Amino acid sequence: MTGSSDPGAPDAHARVSWWPAPAKLNLFLHVTGRYADGYHALQTIFQLIDRCDRIGLAVRRDGRIERRAGLAGVEPQRDLAVRAARLLQEYTGITLGADVHVDKHIPAGGGLGGGSSDAATVLLGLNALWGTQVPRGELARLGLALGADVPVFVGGHSAWGEGRGEQLWPLALPPRCYLVLHPQVAVSTAEVFQSPDLTRNSAVITLREYAAECVGNVCEPVVRARYPQVAEALEWLSHEARVGAQLTGTGSCIFAGFEREQDARQIAARIPARWSGFVARGLDRSPLHAML
Ligand code: C5P
Repeated sequence: MTGSSDPGAPDAHARVSWWPAPAKLNLFLHVTGRYADGYHALQTIFQLIDRCDRIGLAVRRDGRIERRAGLAGVEPQRDLAVRAARLLQEYTGITLGADVHVDKHIPAGGGLGGGSSDAATVLLGLNALWGTQVPRGELARLGLALGADVPVFVGGHSAWGEGRGEQLWPLALPPRCYLVLHPQVAVSTAEVFQSPDLTRNSAVITLREYAAECVGNVCEPVVRARYPQVAEALEWLSHEARVGAQLTGTGSCIFAGFEREQDARQIAARIPARWSGFVARGLDRSPLHAML
């Protein structure tokens, strides 16, 4: 139960194993209420995609948790990957430590769940490397304290999600390719959820109603109003794709789904230089779980 070794990595001699951390898209997002602690009750579909960060892990005998590489501008002690390692260490009382490498490919602040997925991969990877044998349900519960999107990545399936995002029902979604566009702006999730303009009383719907109706993301009007770059990108992609573009999470990334990869790639080739984007495939199961 180890990740793939990467002979090209600078620390290969330190027995770093490499583990994928996939991104997600929210195919719709409703806010159906609010909890006493201020968090929101959601309904969503989490679609995992094959765009991944890579997490390198090496066991340390001295008990220290050290970040060896990570996102510039994020202090190691605030990095969710490091916090996940500390959380599992404290929870299990294990005396081993770890070196943690975070190789980012998922845009941060984009609504793609990259930080949460990194944290989930650290929880699952170190649980395997340390031999701590914490059950997955317990890892998901621990991870929820780090971020509302951590449980879906611990679960490792595309899923219907409710609650804060921790009540999950795995789904087999139609195969799709997604063009994901990053308008080069970071959106604050907390700011969007605090907005007085956010619709907090969406009707609770069923999967059948989702399939029959055209349901979208309630955060979109708030984000459009506060981030003109996102509004502009949504208009551009809706026009190019002719299938409707939508926000993932609280943005800033937006996406459109295609049955044929070549259609997504043709539009990706026309993305204006001020933005960036990529094409990714939808996955029913996380590549991490295929390795575990
Ligand atoms: O859990 P995460 O770190 O992604 O959440 C960031 C912020 O978004 C939280 O501090 C909270 O203000 C808001 N949030 C919320 N309800 C959720 C998820 C997030 O209010 N279900």
